[in-house]
Amino acid sequence: MLGSPCLLGLLAVTFLVPQAQPLAPGNLEEEEEEDETPLPSMPCDYDRCRHLQVPCKELQRASPTACLCPGLSSPDLPPEQPRLGEVRLVAEDSLAVVHWCAPSSPVHQYWLLLWPGSGAPQKSPPLNSTFRRAELTGLKPGGSYVVCVVAANGAGESSVPGAVGQGLDGVGGPSFGPCSQFTVPPRPLSLVHAAAGVGTALALLTCSALIWHFCLRDRWGCPRRQARAVPRL
Ligand SMILES: *[C@@H]1O[C@H](CO)[C@@H](O)[C@H](O)[C@H]1NC(C)=O
Repeated sequence: MLGSPCLLGLLAVTFLVPQAQPLAPGNLEEEEEEDETPLPSMPCDYDRCRHLQVPCKELQRASPTACLCPGLSSPDLPPEQPRLGEVRLVAEDSLAVVHWCAPSSPVHQYWLLLWPGSGAPQKSPPLNSTFRRAELTGLKPGGSYVVCVVAANGAGESSVPGAVGQGLDGVGGPSFGPCSQFTVPPRPLSLVHAAAGVGTALALLTCSALIWHFCLRDRWGCPRRQARAVPRL
């Protein structure tokens, strides 16, 4: 008589447990949580180096689907340094086009500092936070410059390497910092003049060679040629 309750218990365990498992309350709760708060997995269409880039927070607000923004430093701290990219020179117009990338910080505005050789820098007008590109005009052909980009927010402005003001040696070539050094090539017009000068010189040289060949050589070299020519005739 003792065996049958045990057997019933075993049967209950083997048959009821597999049926109960899919209805386990733990599993249901997990699935519901995932449906209610979907975590955004797509990054927003934000490029810190793109000109006229709307701030990522605004993209997030406007986006119909949730997206992820890169993390930013605290708005209570001055921005980190932006990264200045390539400086593209347009020699015909004494113009340079400067590109930069936003730092991982909240930025209200940018401006450029331009050191013409040595002395105090020229400061550009403020550019709003969507800017990543600016033009430097009125550059002297053949001149050397250092340009730095500064980002600012409510807490202050990003730093500029200290050595920049004193000389051009501290900032060299393509760097990953906020500054870049560049030299404006001489005006193409003066290159044209130089080419014309070389051309004229070559033409004069050719002319004098021809004159020597046909006139002067006749005078000095003819006796020998005539002397050789006579026996042949
Ligand atoms: C920033 O400046 C650009 C060009 O002047 C302008 O189109 C844009 O509306 C400005 N954006 C903001 C947020 O002020």
